[in-house]
Amino acid sequence: MEPDGKEVVLITGCSAGGIGHALARAFAAEKCQVVATSRSKVSMGDLEQDPRFFLQELDVLSHDSVQRVVSTVVEKYGHIDVLVNNAGVQCVGPLAEIPLSALQRTFDTNVYGPMRLVQAVVPHMASRRKGKIVNVGSIAALAPGPWAGVYTASKAALHALTDTLRLELRHFGIDVINVAPGAIWSNIGNAVRANYSQMPEWKLYKPFEAAIRARAHFSQGPKSTPSEEFAKKTVAAVLKKNPPAWFSSGHLSTAMAVMYHLPLFIRDFIIKIAIKG
Ligand SMILES: NC(=O)c1ccc[n+]([C@@H]2O[C@H](COP(=O)([O-])OP(=O)(O)OC[C@H]3O[C@@H](n4cnc5c(N)ncnc54)[C@H](OP(=O)(O)O)[C@@H]3O)[C@@H](O)[C@H]2O)c1
Repeated sequence: MEPDGKEVVLITGCSAGGIGHALARAFAAEKCQVVATSRSKVSMGDLEQDPRFFLQELDVLSHDSVQRVVSTVVEKYGHIDVLVNNAGVQCVGPLAEIPLSALQRTFDTNVYGPMRLVQAVVPHMASRRKGKIVNVGSIAALAPGPWAGVYTASKAALHALTDTLRLELRHFGIDVINVAPGAIWSNIGNAVRANYSQMPEWKLYKPFEAAIRARAHFSQGPKSTPSEEFAKKTVAAVLKKNPPAWFSSGHLSTAMAVMYHLPLFIRDFIIKIAIKG
């Protein structure tokens, strides 16, 4: 049985200050029982004493960690109604020089991570013929520009997987929703800056250093949408009886969707002006 009739929602990447944390609070505000996860419980410490949250440490890179948390939650609540694959990392650097290890780690987090969760929860959801899987992609994948090619490629891969999952999982009563945030206030700029400090010195691209660095916090400008506002709208869409296949919201989300439909030469021209490259 659901605890007090509440829907159980498992979210990855719920560190304070990020979208996952805002989503956790927005689901809780809609009377859901939230399993908030992150790599470290300390990063979600403010939720600890609130019974609407069950905190678990989960690293999406680890099969064992995913299996352990999913088993714990199914044992405790009997089921998982909504999985939100939110954890993700940005990655900045020119494709011709970025270490392949950075590319692999980004795909491991942003693509294989969600798939580890999907494969762990689907048997439970399918057995009840009920469930929702939300994959957090990015609107940036619709119009990839310079310096964040690894990130946008990982999100484009996630979008493609999400579209296939939606068709494959409908046979088992599972809805799959692609959420594509625009520019949302979060810790993503700080996180990518820390990753960027480990990059080698660029060779051919040394003259572009300032532009590459600037791409790291492109989504964190004065007009970026507060994560609370984004989370509230996203949760309202996800909790609908018939949720949308695609949900996008936030600063630049409409502009990027329009860019997607433009001829490539026009899109390239606009991107060259917006992002020095
Ligand atoms: N902010 C935007 O403008 C924007 C736009 C489009 C899409 N997105 C997507 O939205 C999602 C949330 O990002 P955000 O903006 O909220 O960034 P954020 O504040 O940096 O949050 C990312 C979260 O993912 C977690 N994470 C990273 N690697 C992980 C791993 N191996 N296992 C478990 N958790 C891991 C981080 O944990 P730690 O705190 O431990 O690092 C953090 O909790 C991401 O998928 C991102 O790509 C964001």
